[in-house]
Amino acid sequence: MAIIEGFRVKNYGALKDITLGKLWNTQKAKPLNPLTVVIGKNGAGKSTIFDAFGFIADCLKLGVEDACFARGRGGFEKIRSQEQTGPIEFEIYYKEDAKALPITYELSINVDNGGKLYVEKERLRQRRKGQKTGWPFSFLILNAGKGFVWKGNAGGQQVDEDKKNIDDLFASLKEPAQTEEKAETEWVELDDNRKLGIATLGSLKQHPRISAFRRFIEGWYLSYFDPNAARELPKAGPQKHLNVKGDNIGNVVQYMERDINQERFKRILQRISEKIPGIGEISTHKDDYSNNLYLLFKDKGFAVPFTHMQMSDGTLKVFAYLLLLEDPDPPPFICIEEPENGLYHKLLETLALEFREHATGKKERSQIFVTTHQPYLVDALNPEEVWVMEKGDDGFSAIHRASDNQIVKSMVEEGQPLGSLWYSDYLDPR
Ligand SMILES: Nc1ncnc2c1ncn2[C@@H]1O[C@H](COP(=O)(O)OP(=O)(O)OP(=O)(O)O)[C@@H](O)[C@H]1O
Ligand SMILES: [Mg+2]
Repeated sequence: MAIIEGFRVKNYGALKDITLGKLWNTQKAKPLNPLTVVIGKNGAGKSTIFDAFGFIADCLKLGVEDACFARGRGGFEKIRSQEQTGPIEFEIYYKEDAKALPITYELSINVDNGGKLYVEKERLRQRRKGQKTGWPFSFLILNAGKGFVWKGNAGGQQVDEDKKNIDDLFASLKEPAQTEEKAETEWVELDDNRKLGIATLGSLKQHPRISAFRRFIEGWYLSYFDPNAARELPKAGPQKHLNVKGDNIGNVVQYMERDINQERFKRILQRISEKIPGIGEISTHKDDYSNNLYLLFKDKGFAVPFTHMQMSDGTLKVFAYLLLLEDPDPPPFICIEEPENGLYHKLLETLALEFREHATGKKERSQIFVTTHQPYLVDALNPEEVWVMEKGDDGFSAIHRASDNQIVKSMVEEGQPLGSLWYSDYLDPR
């Protein structure tokens, strides 16, 4: 399973400079857990961090200009941290699988003198096998859409950006190849510097590491679940994955019904129905005349099943989450904002345990990132999984891991649930 071990954001809304987990130059820091939950008061920056992931995914898909306006973001100047003049920057430290050497992806987005938005810098770096210290080897260096890329699985060049002028490096790389190392490099110029280099280069076979990273980001699932959309009547037609609004739950069930082993399919629906209070059997019904697709829920008290259009917000939501977790080919990274909205408090522990099982169980299916306000959900978590966000005196967000607080750690070890400690203000910064 691919995992993000660390994430740094600069100048993105309230996130002037925050780091979660481990980066290439903070090797002593603990990596992010496969299940990570961010808590904090209103306005602390939880939605902003959720959206930072969404923004990166949108930059890859749409280019940076459209991404700045997508999902109501309102453009670069609205997104950039107030009174800051530098670029918006991201750093993702990730491993393609448990045995892989970690890769660092750095992206900075800025406006030029004419006010035009562009990708100022893009880097991909990876340390060599056995290399514990020093700069990782860059295998993608793009400045304003121009630069070098190293083919294959191992190439790269150490670039100390503080000391060495990138122009010198570019000049030396442009000279005719004399070494094998140089022969692996390729000068690239993107025709549009508002598009990410990993979008173009990641579609080429000769760049397997970039392709894997591109696929990883493309696979992220950011849940914008909307119960009203989920209640709409979809046209029949199997669909492999749940979409972000969750309005194709019936189509996903139809896909599972058709494409996976029948016994397994029944077990999945049964497992889900056991976890949703009051719900019995779940099935689909296709109306041949209209080609509409109905999801049928058998309520324990009634003989005739209800359709999904009649189901409550909370039931549909839990159903959508559980269905997502049952995806036979699940997304590598799942982000969910405030899953508690509309859910009965006792369901939250179940949900947290489901998330943990999904992220850390034998199969390690997806990394899960959640933001929440709900102490009941946090009760089921351990301090390493929880990050506390707060607004600092300067108006920008700060973040720390609950396990950094020794008192909290000891109290949890003694049996105090983490959510109740949060409720009693033990998680606030001291
Ligand atoms: N460009 C910006 N620069 C600095 N701060 C900003 C910028 N844009 C928005 N903010 C601030 O960012 C803060 C974080 O908002 P966010 O929506 O992430 O909080 P939240 O933790 O999700 O809160 P809630 O629990 O209410 O949903 C808000 O207080 C907002 O005023
Ligand atoms: Mg929010």
